[in-house]
Amino acid sequence: MDIAGSLIGLRDEALARIAQAPDLESLDAVRVAYLGKKGALTAVLRGLKDLPAEERPAVGRVSNEVRDAVEAALAERRAVLERDLLARRIRAEAVDVTLPGRRRPLGRQHIIHQIVDEIVDVFVGLGYRIAEGPEVELDYYNFTALNHPPEHPARAATDTFYVKDQSGGATGAGLESEVLLRTHTSPVQVRVMEKQQPPIYVLAPGKVFRRDVADPSHLPQFTQIEGLVVDEGITFGDLKGTLEHFVREIFGPDRRVRLRPHFFPFTEPSAEVDVSCAMCGGDGCRSCGGEGWLEVLGCGMVDPNVFRYVGIDSERYTGFAFGMGAERIAALKHGIPDLRLLIEGDMRFLRQF
Ligand code: PHE
Repeated sequence: MDIAGSLIGLRDEALARIAQAPDLESLDAVRVAYLGKKGALTAVLRGLKDLPAEERPAVGRVSNEVRDAVEAALAERRAVLERDLLARRIRAEAVDVTLPGRRRPLGRQHIIHQIVDEIVDVFVGLGYRIAEGPEVELDYYNFTALNHPPEHPARAATDTFYVKDQSGGATGAGLESEVLLRTHTSPVQVRVMEKQQPPIYVLAPGKVFRRDVADPSHLPQFTQIEGLVVDEGITFGDLKGTLEHFVREIFGPDRRVRLRPHFFPFTEPSAEVDVSCAMCGGDGCRSCGGEGWLEVLGCGMVDPNVFRYVGIDSERYTGFAFGMGAERIAALKHGIPDLRLLIEGDMRFLRQF
């Protein structure tokens, strides 16, 4: 058997396969096939010891050359493939520093929260504290203690969301029929006065709910901001001065304020407050319906009956209260024609504020 010949044959075969190996894995498979423990070359080399002693040196030399040649070819090819691989990775992971950066969309506070914060700031600046009450409220706080007679129309299920359907309340007029979604933030007045004796200077922002169909000027859920002041010697003049300050802070120094007599069960006397129209300055135009004035809030002096419910001495203390819709204030301030825009989440609208 011509061992040297078969060694040369194996070498040429190995060199050809090495030259063609497309990647590092196939190259390693070639190495294993020839030089691995069970490789073809290894088998031949192992057979050397069975050769007659005089043939060993010559065959040994050839086999060493063959192994060296194969190993050298493997190393060279590996270097080439590794260089290729690196070049490909660099290309794949390359960052084009000339590309413009990706803009991160910036979130912002919703317009309703912006206006609430602005209004809160005005009154905190006057020394008011923030008060809160539950959105799911008892009839007692929403109506009774606010001096609403039992037959008051606001109590009707057509105006108020009751937590349990009143008509279905066949079990009787238990607590269930007394639970409702507050229709205004005025119940917070009662909760504050129950816990605290005057002097009281509080502002209570929060959600309120009414059985209204959403239209340009109504929302079934909106945000009210309630103010309550109780102290010795508080007069209607204090109320008017406070509201004038508020209007100028929010709408600007040129707006005028007008109070119109009104009625609320829990204030006496009561008034509605109008602000002069920004468009016509009070002369009357299309945006104020020819009136020259736009209504912004309800207010009045705390009714002594309310003081009686909460145990505050109405001989010693007087107070005023006011309540406004944040959405309405935002609409008047920014000229928003339809309150529904405020709750629809259309980014084209919201981005403007
Ligand atoms: N709660 C009244 C409303 O929702 C507003 C108001 C508050 C009026 C405080 C007077 C005093 O219409």
